[in-house]
Amino acid sequence: MQTGHRPVATTFANLLLVMRPRPDFIHEFIPGSLERTLLLLHGTGGNERDLIPLGRELDSNASLLSPRGKVLENGMPRFFRRLAEGVFDLQDLKNRTNELADFVAAAAQHYGFAADKVVAVGYSNGANIAASLLLLRPEILSAAILFRAMVPLVPDKQPKLSSMRVWIGAGTDDPIIPTSETKRLAELLRKAGADVTIRHFPAGHGLTMSDVEAARDWLTPPPLKLRKALP
Ligand code: MLT
Repeated sequence: MQTGHRPVATTFANLLLVMRPRPDFIHEFIPGSLERTLLLLHGTGGNERDLIPLGRELDSNASLLSPRGKVLENGMPRFFRRLAEGVFDLQDLKNRTNELADFVAAAAQHYGFAADKVVAVGYSNGANIAASLLLLRPEILSAAILFRAMVPLVPDKQPKLSSMRVWIGAGTDDPIIPTSETKRLAELLRKAGADVTIRHFPAGHGLTMSDVEAARDWLTPPPLKLRKALP
């Protein structure tokens, strides 16, 4: 018999669905004690839990928002489709960049973090979509840390990045991203007005502790006294 009343569990489940930030990504959100939020973007085959320790290492007080890429390549999550190694499906990349930007804006409202203090932290495929956010939807970010990034696309319209700080960490022996590609990305961002710092590490495509320490000091410079004491 229909009573007209939905079971309480269903109603509650629907309510939770309504309350999730839209457009939706599987994600982790960990509130912090500072205004800054790190948007953590994993590499191919990663997930929303991968970069949480990295986020904590970079800023132990920041909130962490970590979505999982929605594209599956042989079962491995990514943030956008590629046709081959380093050859991207540009329409998909544009759509996914906008979808991710809308998610970050919705998540700021939903969780109540400052929408103007979001720093992207991306590794590899995650760094490439972070670079795409800088080029297509820069209003979402206040700064970006890009580990092993390449030029994701050249936008039709140059973005205005005059108040944007960007840190790029490259591996001198990276078999996927040649040094010339890192330089090309830095030039594209600088031409749009960004304040870009590039650091080269004697490393391959994998992240090293030197990358993490250098990015951490760039994000929050250590107090002057301590800096003098450092080797
Ligand atoms: C990409 O597809 O974004 C780059 O080739 C990096 C990678 O995920 O291997």
